[in-house]
Amino acid sequence: MGKFRILATFLCLSFFNLFSASNGRDIITPDQAMENGEALVSAGGTFKLGFFSPSGSTNRYLGIWYNNIPMQTVVWVANRNSPVTNFPAVLNLTADGNLALHDNTSNVIWLTNTSNVSDPTVQLLDSGNLVLTDNSRRLVWQSFDYPSDTFLPGMKLGFNQHLDWHLTSWTSPSDPSPGTYSSKIYGYREIGIWNLTILKYRSGPWNGHGFNGFTDMKSAEFFSFRFFINQEEEYYTFEIINKSILSRVVLNQFGVVQRSVLLDPIHGWKLYWWFPMDQCDEYAECGAFGVCNTNDSSVCKCLRGFVPKSPEDWALRDFSDGCVRRTALHCGRGGDGFLKVTGLKLPDTSNAMVDRNMSLDDCRDRCLKNCSCMAFNSFSEDGSACLTWHGDLIDIREFTEGGQDLYVRLASSELGMST
Ligand SMILES: *[C@@H]1O[C@H](CO)[C@@H](O)[C@H](O)[C@H]1NC(C)=O
Ligand SMILES: *[C@@H]1O[C@H](CO)[C@@H](O)[C@H](O)[C@H]1NC(C)=O
Ligand SMILES: *[C@@H]1O[C@H](CO)[C@@H](O)[C@H](O)[C@H]1NC(C)=O
Ligand SMILES: *[C@@H]1O[C@H](CO)[C@@H](O)[C@H](O)[C@H]1NC(C)=O
Ligand SMILES: *[C@@H]1O[C@H](CO)[C@@H](O)[C@H](O)[C@H]1NC(C)=O
Ligand SMILES: *[C@@H]1O[C@H](CO)[C@@H](O)[C@H](O)[C@H]1NC(C)=O
Ligand SMILES: *[C@@H]1O[C@H](CO)[C@@H](O)[C@H](O)[C@H]1NC(C)=O
Ligand SMILES: *[C@@H]1O[C@H](CO)[C@@H](O)[C@H](O)[C@H]1NC(C)=O
Ligand SMILES: *[C@@H]1O[C@H](CO)[C@@H](O)[C@H](O)[C@H]1NC(C)=O
Repeated sequence: MGKFRILATFLCLSFFNLFSASNGRDIITPDQAMENGEALVSAGGTFKLGFFSPSGSTNRYLGIWYNNIPMQTVVWVANRNSPVTNFPAVLNLTADGNLALHDNTSNVIWLTNTSNVSDPTVQLLDSGNLVLTDNSRRLVWQSFDYPSDTFLPGMKLGFNQHLDWHLTSWTSPSDPSPGTYSSKIYGYREIGIWNLTILKYRSGPWNGHGFNGFTDMKSAEFFSFRFFINQEEEYYTFEIINKSILSRVVLNQFGVVQRSVLLDPIHGWKLYWWFPMDQCDEYAECGAFGVCNTNDSSVCKCLRGFVPKSPEDWALRDFSDGCVRRTALHCGRGGDGFLKVTGLKLPDTSNAMVDRNMSLDDCRDRCLKNCSCMAFNSFSEDGSACLTWHGDLIDIREFTEGGQDLYVRLASSELGMST
């Protein structure tokens, strides 16, 4: 009797161990596949990889979500374009060492498709990154290189020679297929948000601490933000300083970027920050050489020395034609100067040029010598980079606090005037 009970207990315990082991493992190996209903859980228990259906959909997807919070929050989807419709699905390693998702007829629905990998292992890390490594533990493929709509601590937004790390919105909350919005780094270290090919919102350039157009963005008690640049890669990333909170950034189906934080699973996710916030965040709201300020009764005005191009439209609050110079530039014949305007979100940098290690005076000379140069600024936080803008100055806004200087080229005769 006693022996039986011990044996039963032993059997129960081993059963429990087997059970929790098969549900708690964090790796896939060539002889250990993952099937419908199974999941990987990262070693620290933070993330889970498994099959899910978004609410309102019967399609199944392979995805990663937070393991320890009640509301399923998906952060990555593998087969965004090709849901599993025939169950059960199988996730295993192919003969050449790639991770493959098969439906019940063994069709490959999704594949990592990198080079041949010998002795491969797939592991779900506690950062939420799914990694494929070879026999020498060399990283061959990682889900962080192919973000969906969610930006997690340690992920990169930017590019290197081979990869372009960007976010793409879901089509809708019930459909993770790529929506029309995307977000990536462009110009001089700025984030843009596009609807298909149309730029809708921009962050302004990185100024050493944060993005110039996000005046409230500073590394502080909760987050540390970083823009990293070297010969090989250029990217923006963030970390959470207090490990007891969770935070994620999502590009939603309407092109809004939202940072949420979770302090306590009971209270759930709280919206912490979002962008765009107001009318002046709309790209080119005031047209070329216009300045946007939500506090001004007219919202848009022209830079000093410029006048509305279409005064009738402007009076009717259609600012899209922007502003034109009141006095033509002299350019090569001398007689141009610069007006220092302070507290700005700097204009779109897609046509800006950068010269590293150049003083403000040299930067001014450089701009003055080039007829297409309309403005310049120097970023002292970055070992004095000289930024010169060529062509129309687009998407400037004015802040009451924060913002940066811009030296705008004007005919000298405009510089003496007091209006
Ligand atoms: C495969 O999926 C199809 C469609 O859902 C279903 O009819 C069929 O029974 C499945 N086969 C197996 C072996 O599960
Ligand atoms: C992976 O799973 C599919 C579907 O079950 C199967 O056809 C295939 O042979 C498996 N691959 C390997 C290498 O075991
Ligand atoms: C795998 O990559 C190769 C080369 O880039 C490409 O030709 C092929 O279509 C890809 N296969 C799949 C299944 O995506
Ligand atoms: C993988 O190796 C096999 C056998 O050597 C070869 O036929 C195949 O082209 C290789 N695939 C890739 C993607 O390198
Ligand atoms: C981290 O945040 C939690 C929740 O706000 C707080 O209780 C805790 O004191 C913080 N820890 C540190 C080291 O700041
Ligand atoms: C995105 O652009 C498309 C095409 O111009 C348009 O039909 C759609 O309404 C836009 N989406 C949103 C959410 O504004
Ligand atoms: C910057 O320029 C100065 C003067 O031309 C030079 O001495 C210095 O080495 C340069 N620094 C870098 C980082 O290129
Ligand atoms: C002026 O700047 C433009 C844009 O960078 C450049 O293409 C052009 O070559 C420059 N002209 C001179 C004379 O340096
Ligand atoms: C608008 O004015 C208020 C009060 O002066 C100020 O607190 C706020 O920051 C201003 N907003 C902008 C966008 O300039």
